[in-house]
Amino acid sequence: MKPALHTVTSAPALPAYVATGNECALFEHAWRHQLPVLLKGPTGCGKTRFVAHMAARLGLPLHTVACHDDLTAADLTGRYLLKGGDTVWTDGPLTRAVREGGICYLDEVVEARKDVTVVLHPLTDDRRILPLERTGEELAAPKSFMLVVSYNPGYQTLLKALKPSTRQRFVAIEFGFLAPEQEIAVVSAESGLPPDRVRPLVALAGRLRALRGHDLEEGVSTRLVVYCATLIAAGTPIADAVLAGMIEPLTDDSDVKAALLDVARAVIG
Ligand SMILES: Nc1ncnc2c1ncn2[C@@H]1O[C@H](COP(=O)(O)OP(=O)(O)O)[C@@H](O)[C@H]1O
Ligand SMILES: [Mg+2]
Repeated sequence: MKPALHTVTSAPALPAYVATGNECALFEHAWRHQLPVLLKGPTGCGKTRFVAHMAARLGLPLHTVACHDDLTAADLTGRYLLKGGDTVWTDGPLTRAVREGGICYLDEVVEARKDVTVVLHPLTDDRRILPLERTGEELAAPKSFMLVVSYNPGYQTLLKALKPSTRQRFVAIEFGFLAPEQEIAVVSAESGLPPDRVRPLVALAGRLRALRGHDLEEGVSTRLVVYCATLIAAGTPIADAVLAGMIEPLTDDSDVKAALLDVARAVIG
């Protein structure tokens, strides 16, 4: 069994986040009123960064779980583990977040097994409880506890779509790509490459995103533009950085790749 990828952050420095609308205020209102939040949008557009930023801003510990297809309810709630001959109950990340009154962030929640929704439901309605079947406990979530989940609608097969009975328990915020000027500022700040040198990369990203749906499943993420700019800032020739950072990650098809390279040459020169 794959272990749950789980990171805990508490009282971190404020991770940089450039807002694109009212998402920060919306998130804060949701937290103050004990409403769970669903973040939807393409990969690499800032969902995880946004949660890290808001957790730090609100002074809340953040438990992040990268969901995968082996992830079970017990991975989130906890289990009895053998410790020197004794079996000892060990809280999972969701249970810890509930006990501490922090944020539990389930990244790519649709990847998780179906039984996960069973533990989420009583936490996401006005009961706000986490029943721990194995220990017989029933934890009442403190006011500061918040459940945040993310998913990528572009990516889902019908089988993996989030069920209405689950999704209708969340306030949902849609994430998209940043406006060009904002993306230039973000990429420049993250990579250290001056804005004037980032500008053509963001222009190229815009052109490649316009091809989405035709030959490409997904457009270039801001993350990839940051990678590309980081390579250039480190001294990689632009053409090599664009190929490795913005073209190769998008496709394995040689015809599609050739077409993307044509676009890159037209934009970057
Ligand atoms: N609005 C934003 N503000 C700051 N950085 C951003 C923003 N959007 C994207 N990024 C950059 O893109 C990277 C990927 O974002 P991430 O939050 O991991 O995406 P997602 O969780 O949506 O897949 C971040 O590490 C950051 O460098
Ligand atoms: Mg993410």
